Parts: sequence; structure tokens; C-alpha cells
Amino acid sequence: MLGRYTAGAKQPIIAIGNVLGGFTMLAVSFAAWFGAAPSTRRSGLAVTLMLLLIVQIAAGVFVSAGYSGLSCTGFPACGVAINFSSTLLDPTRVPQFDATLPIHPQGAFAHMLHRGLALLVTLAALATSMSVWRSGARRAAIALGSLLVLQIMIGLTLVHASLPFVAALAHNVVAALMLLAASACLRVREHSERVDVA
Ligand code: HEM
Repeated sequence: MLGRYTAGAKQPIIAIGNVLGGFTMLAVSFAAWFGAAPSTRRSGLAVTLMLLLIVQIAAGVFVSAGYSGLSCTGFPACGVAINFSSTLLDPTRVPQFDATLPIHPQGAFAHMLHRGLALLVTLAALATSMSVWRSGARRAAIALGSLLVLQIMIGLTLVHASLPFVAALAHNVVAALMLLAASACLRVREHSERVDVA
């Protein structure tokens, strides 16, 4: 419905809805493939990671759809002065910028927020990996840890190489795979042997 009725829309919220909708379909298909988890016991760490990932994916699409990918060319600092106005984080606002400039400085706030959230995702993913490793689901732990390292490296490539298309595509695919790995970790307590098979 979003794709059909919002073609050409410039508000980032439309792209965010589209990507989150697609990723949700993927995660639901994955859950359907492995069957419903009967127990109500869930790993709090994996739930936190899942929520952080959803927020981080929305923030990443906001960076991309808001033309903010090139707003910070430095690392770890942004490299330009940041305007912390909350209106710059309004996903319903059509991004306004001078297309003749090489960078869009008003996007620096969103860009740095995405990097800050990456730090929280890293902490949650490492803690979840260690926890599921201890539960015996080693493949899920290794998959999550490896995808995290890969995603950070691709993020750095995006910044340093000025958004090569292949890296942007890979960043999206790895984000989806991280969501599936987190979803596998969610069911470790109930189905550790099935996750190991996965
Ligand atoms: C660790 C977890 C991370 C996740 C789950 C994540 C996820 C995403 C997603 C889903 C997008 C949208 C891609 C698109 O629609 O084209 C995105 C964009 C982006 N991310 Fe990340 N990201 C992460 C970490 C990072 C890090 C560490 C950096 C940089 C140091 C980074 C830099 C970027 C940039 C520059 C874009 C904009 C790409 C474009 O304009 O096409 N990301 N991210």
C-alpha cells in the first residue's frame, strides 16, 4: 500500500515505513519457518537488542532518505559543526538543502545519532552474543558477532568512500541479517537446539 500510494514521496517517513515493513515481513517469515516459540521466557538482552536494531534501522533509513549520508565526512567526530535542532529529526519533513554543495550540513545531527545508536547496538549485540554462547547456541552467537563486525566495517566504508552503492546495498542486507540473528537469539532459551541447527 505504501509503495503503491506514495511513489515519489520525499518525506523520509515513507522510506522508513517501506523498509521496516519489508524487514518485518522477512522476520515474520523467519519466525514462521522455525515455528512458534511456546514458552513465554525470553532473553531480556535479545529483546533489548531487537528493539535497538529496529530503532537503528529506522535511523539509518532516515540518514539515507534525508540525504545525510555525506553530512559527516570525519570519523569518529563528524567533521562539520552540528545543529542540534529537533526539527532536523522530523521524519515527516521534506529535507531542505542546497544541492550545489558537496555535503548537506543540516543532516549532521541525524548522521551522528545513527553512529551513537550503533554504539548502543554494539553493546547490546556483544552482551547477547556472550549470553547465547553460554546457553550453548554457539552458531547464533558467532553469526550475531560476525554480522556486527561486518556492519561496522561497511558503515566505515560508507563514510570514508562517500557512499559507494554496493556498500549501501550491503549495509541494508547485513542490517536485515542482524535482525534475523537477533530473532534467532530471542528463541535460544526455548529452542537452543533448533537455533544451533540454524
Ligand atoms: C551497527 C549497526 C548498524 C545498523 C543496523 C545500520 C543500519 C543502517 C541502515 C538500515 C541504513 C539504511 C541504508 C539505506 O537505506 O540505504 C543505514 C544507513 C547508513 N549507515 Fe548504518 N547501520 C549501523 C551502523 C553504522 C555505522 C557504525 C556507521 C558509520 C560509522 C553507519 C553509517 C551509515 C551511513 C553513512 C548510512 C547512509 C547510507 C546512504 O546514504 O545510502 N552505520 N544504516
